[in-house]
Amino acid sequence: MAPRVEAAVIGCGLIGASWAALLAAHGHAVKAYDPDPARRAQLAETVARLRRQLLELRADAGGSVTVAGDLAAALDGATFVLESAPERLDLKVDLLAEMDRHCPADVVIATSTSSLLLSDMTARCAHRDRFIVAHPFNPPHLMPLVELFGTSPSVLDRAEAFFRALHKQTIRLKREVPGHIANRLGAALWQEAVHLVASGVADVADIDAALIHGPAMRWAVQGTHLTYHLGGGAGGIRHYLDHLGPSQERRWQSLGKVQLTADVKKMLIDGIEQEAAGRSVANLEAERDRFLIDLLKLRDHL
Ligand SMILES: NC(=O)c1ccc[n+]([C@@H]2O[C@H](COP(=O)([O-])OP(=O)(O)OC[C@H]3O[C@@H](n4cnc5c(N)ncnc54)[C@H](O)[C@@H]3O)[C@@H](O)[C@H]2O)c1
Repeated sequence: MAPRVEAAVIGCGLIGASWAALLAAHGHAVKAYDPDPARRAQLAETVARLRRQLLELRADAGGSVTVAGDLAAALDGATFVLESAPERLDLKVDLLAEMDRHCPADVVIATSTSSLLLSDMTARCAHRDRFIVAHPFNPPHLMPLVELFGTSPSVLDRAEAFFRALHKQTIRLKREVPGHIANRLGAALWQEAVHLVASGVADVADIDAALIHGPAMRWAVQGTHLTYHLGGGAGGIRHYLDHLGPSQERRWQSLGKVQLTADVKKMLIDGIEQEAAGRSVANLEAERDRFLIDLLKLRDHL
């Protein structure tokens, strides 16, 4: 079993609560802090629910989540810190600087930021090298991916060992870029999906169906590059590029750029409400998590 780590989770919304549950299920002693008293009051119940989901995958190693009354109390004694506060640069700059002042220099501080740059966020920190991006995918207690970026190889090595012990699949960015990798891929795809809706090619639900029953299934197995390798048959990617490269280029040239105007937003909201067909966000989350847990079990057997 992985050694018990004293960890701090700062910000206990959607992402922080999920991190806290995952860490505790792996035996870590977590101290959690959120400035919102309602979030603090709700955390134990949320963590218990998410730990029950994780029990389907492996035994719970019996860690704990203690709610701290302030930031300093949460950070005291922590050797690994996960920050999941709101995605606002001004807020993160202040928060990271405060955490930097409080934590000894050998403490690793990881931010969950989806799109901000580490170099901007750590502008006022003295020990910039101990900060990393550790970008999870929602919900972090289930989704394997954690994208890492940092400036110190030894800090990244420590972070990689920490996340791998949580059964996460880590990847490292060679340089920082807004949105890291997976969110950029997601943004590119969603831009075209919105363009297809806005330009009247198909309804929201049909575009999701095209993805769910088509490319998403193959991507879950082999990603996008290897998938095209197989699109070339026995000749692999060399034949694919010769045969279908020009048609890819034609498609790339016709991809749309979109703006989230009032009309486009209305089309999306109406289409998504129709697709949800009365299912609440909680119902949809439960459906997603059921499927993710089954998929993770399947992967463990591959
Ligand atoms: N939602 C996603 O799908 C997703 C996925 C990956 C990463 N992220 C990243 O995770 C971070 C948190 O996002 P979220 O979706 O959990 O947001 P959220 O709104 O659900 O939670 C943010 C929490 O931070 C708290 N908070 C506010 N000010 C704070 C402060 N000064 N210090 C500490 N906590 C503070 C809020 O009270 C709230 O509980 C963001 O950086 C976001 O980009 C989000």
